[in-house]
Amino acid sequence: MLKQKVAVITGANRGIGLATVEVFANNRATIWACARSQSDEFEKKLQEIANSNSTIIKPLYFDVTDQQAMKEAFRQIGKESKRIDILVNNAGMSVECLFNMTSMDMMRKAMEVNFLSQINMAQIVSRYMIKNKSGSIVNVASVAGMEAEEGGIAYGSSKASVLFATKTMSLELGKYGIRANCVSPGFIETDMWKNRKDDVRAKVLNETPLHRPGSSKEVAQTILFLASDMSSFITGQNIVVDGGRNKGR
Ligand SMILES: NC(=O)c1ccc[n+]([C@@H]2O[C@H](COP(=O)([O-])OP(=O)(O)OC[C@H]3O[C@@H](n4cnc5c(N)ncnc54)[C@H](OP(=O)(O)O)[C@@H]3O)[C@@H](O)[C@H]2O)c1
Repeated sequence: MLKQKVAVITGANRGIGLATVEVFANNRATIWACARSQSDEFEKKLQEIANSNSTIIKPLYFDVTDQQAMKEAFRQIGKESKRIDILVNNAGMSVECLFNMTSMDMMRKAMEVNFLSQINMAQIVSRYMIKNKSGSIVNVASVAGMEAEEGGIAYGSSKASVLFATKTMSLELGKYGIRANCVSPGFIETDMWKNRKDDVRAKVLNETPLHRPGSSKEVAQTILFLASDMSSFITGQNIVVDGGRNKGR
């Protein structure tokens, strides 16, 4: 599905990002797999995935909040590739804190990592896409950005901003053949959930019609749909991947 497409995926070393690398490689994309810091284990894993799918995957290292490092990384891409067809803005962090306890530093951090980094990445990548008059941007948001929950002021606001900004991107970039969409996961079994209390997990599962957490692969397959030409007339949309907890709102 992604043969001859070049994709950039952030947060590629674990969780939903790594699953997206695997699903994209299964579909023959050439991938720039972005992680915050160098790791031999990560590079070995990428090589294994590339070999078993006969495709090319290259690691790229930068913190998504470091604009200079991001620019450097894209200079490296630019030396080797004339095009970027797909951007998956996946890197993110969770912040859980009650409204009155949330410091401005926590707010700033959540906005920088989860929201501003996505804008920055999309601005850089869309310049490549504009030249080629095509491209697909998939921003990973969250159901937390759609429905308010206690303790969600920082994380939820950052993800609501992603949802809003994606609509703006779709409006302004459509004339260049560029689509921009969101995927909003619910409870997905990744490191992000490993420190959540049992009663929180139980409550969420109880409210979920499918009564189980989702897997990273299930989110990655939705990202694949939006990244590929299978969704060629879809832009400015948000697909919720939450086992039905959001009740289709
Ligand atoms: N899991 C869920 O239930 C769920 C639900 C809704 C939305 N999401 C969203 O899905 C996306 C992926 O989350 P996940 O569940 O796969 O979480 P995860 O396993 O915790 O992975 C987060 C990824 O983001 C990277 N990252 C965080 N801050 C970064 C920074 N400043 N610079 C570069 N990379 C950074 C991490 O890199 P390091 O390894 O270096 O930390 C890691 O690769 C996030 O945007 C998250 O908000 C997840």
